[in-house]
Amino acid sequence: MIGRLNHVAIAVPDLEKAAEIYRGTLGAKVSAPIALPDHGVTTVFVELPNTKIELLHPLGANSPIQGFLDKNPSGGMHHICYEVEDILKTRDSLKASGVRILGDGEPKIGAHGKPVLFLHPKDFAGTLVEVEQV
Ligand code: CO
Repeated sequence: MIGRLNHVAIAVPDLEKAAEIYRGTLGAKVSAPIALPDHGVTTVFVELPNTKIELLHPLGANSPIQGFLDKNPSGGMHHICYEVEDILKTRDSLKASGVRILGDGEPKIGAHGKPVLFLHPKDFAGTLVEVEQV
């Protein structure tokens, strides 16, 4: 059902410092910070030949990653995103398997302008999983 790894998202307390680790130390192609107020994050995209890394920093008062950073002050892997062809079919199949879908179970438009769902980490070996229809 799942296809390519679309991205790995890492929550970071210091966006410029994290961007410089990828740009300078690791020699990756790194974007300028992009504010995504609808999602409560500022994101730096790291482009790798086979996938992307997204560095996430809280934006605004109710950022969905603030709680994660409170628990993990030095930052950490926040979620992984897999591509799917049909998000509603995927959702229905996952639900039938007993997987918990976060939120109201309806796809939302994600940070890339495409429909996404988040799946409960306890159903996926302790990892928050995002599925994105591409
Ligand atoms: Co994501």
